[in-house]
Amino acid sequence: MIHIVGIGPGSPELMTGAGALLIQKADVIVGSKRQLGEIPQDNPAERKLLPTQLSELEAFLLERIGHDIVLLASGDPLIYGIGNWALQKFPPEQLQIVPGISSIQYLCSRCGIAMNDLYMTSSHGKQPDFDFLLAHPKVAMVTDSKLGPAEIAQEILRRKLHKTLVIGENLSYPDERLHRLKPEQVAARYDMNVVVILDEG
Ligand SMILES: C[S@@+](CC[C@H](N)C(=O)[O-])C[C@H]1O[C@@H](n2cnc3c(N)ncnc32)[C@H](O)[C@@H]1O
Repeated sequence: MIHIVGIGPGSPELMTGAGALLIQKADVIVGSKRQLGEIPQDNPAERKLLPTQLSELEAFLLERIGHDIVLLASGDPLIYGIGNWALQKFPPEQLQIVPGISSIQYLCSRCGIAMNDLYMTSSHGKQPDFDFLLAHPKVAMVTDSKLGPAEIAQEILRRKLHKTLVIGENLSYPDERLHRLKPEQVAARYDMNVVVILDEG
């Protein structure tokens, strides 16, 4: 069985009890270097660094399908995470998805932003349709190094819209930083971040 465990935004305290139990009982744990680094040293499971190629990951998982495999996913596995890939590759009887606290949920909680009617999206590997996105009063975006707060701010300024950007960097880590800015105040670079774009003058 493949258990895809959402580990939350990063701090081990934010993982669910169900996820922690599956990690304790796992035969194999797959994750990034940082994620595997958070697994207690005395956990006897085989550890596998997440391959860069998903085809390699698929082959690895298929080889061990009779074992309890935990695949660690940041945040929630089904919010722009590895869970979406796994749903397409493995039948339901081989797959268990364990939800986690998304970085989007965490940022909204930290900044007191109601999530009702929030439109969630990602800039990973794609050029978002900003005319569509900025027509929404409340948008949350997980970003990558190519398209982040500065590029979003430029798109808002180009359209002369009145928006506020809430930016959360390194969420739940000791160096977490939160910003609430007008587009013209947004800096060129931020660490790993989530952005919420709000209709506020
Ligand atoms: C592939 S997406 C995965 C999103 C994840 N499934 C979730 O629900 O949070 C990775 C992106 O999530 C955001 N992210 C994840 N953890 C974060 C954190 N601790 N602080 C800030 N952003 C984070 C960043 O935008 C990062 O580039």
